[in-house]
Amino acid sequence: MKACEVEGLEIVLCNDGGKFYAFQRRCGHMNAPLDMGTANGYIVTCPLHSVQFDASTGKALSGIVPSYSEEPVPKSMAGSFAWLAQLMTHVKIHDLRTFAVKVEDGKIFVDI
Ligand code: FES
Repeated sequence: MKACEVEGLEIVLCNDGGKFYAFQRRCGHMNAPLDMGTANGYIVTCPLHSVQFDASTGKALSGIVPSYSEEPVPKSMAGSFAWLAQLMTHVKIHDLRTFAVKVEDGKIFVDI
């Protein structure tokens, strides 16, 4: 994946074995830069909470995947963690905006 900015739009270009997709750079959950995540074929995974998106349609394919540490949460922080977990249940996940892509003469064109 490669991020670029065109006329103020942050876009990620994703190469799935020669098939190209373009979609908004910012995650539909909490704005993380998706180009810093991973792509497996057309499935893009956000680096922050691991929501997965279909790069071809922009559809969100999953919810967040909480990361757990082996370390117990310090008692003094337990309330804050519980509040954050509660807050996260109210954060919506939006589908991504996608852009049509065509390749001509070795050049990639994105319709913004
Ligand atoms: S910011 Fe992308 S999954 Fe939360």
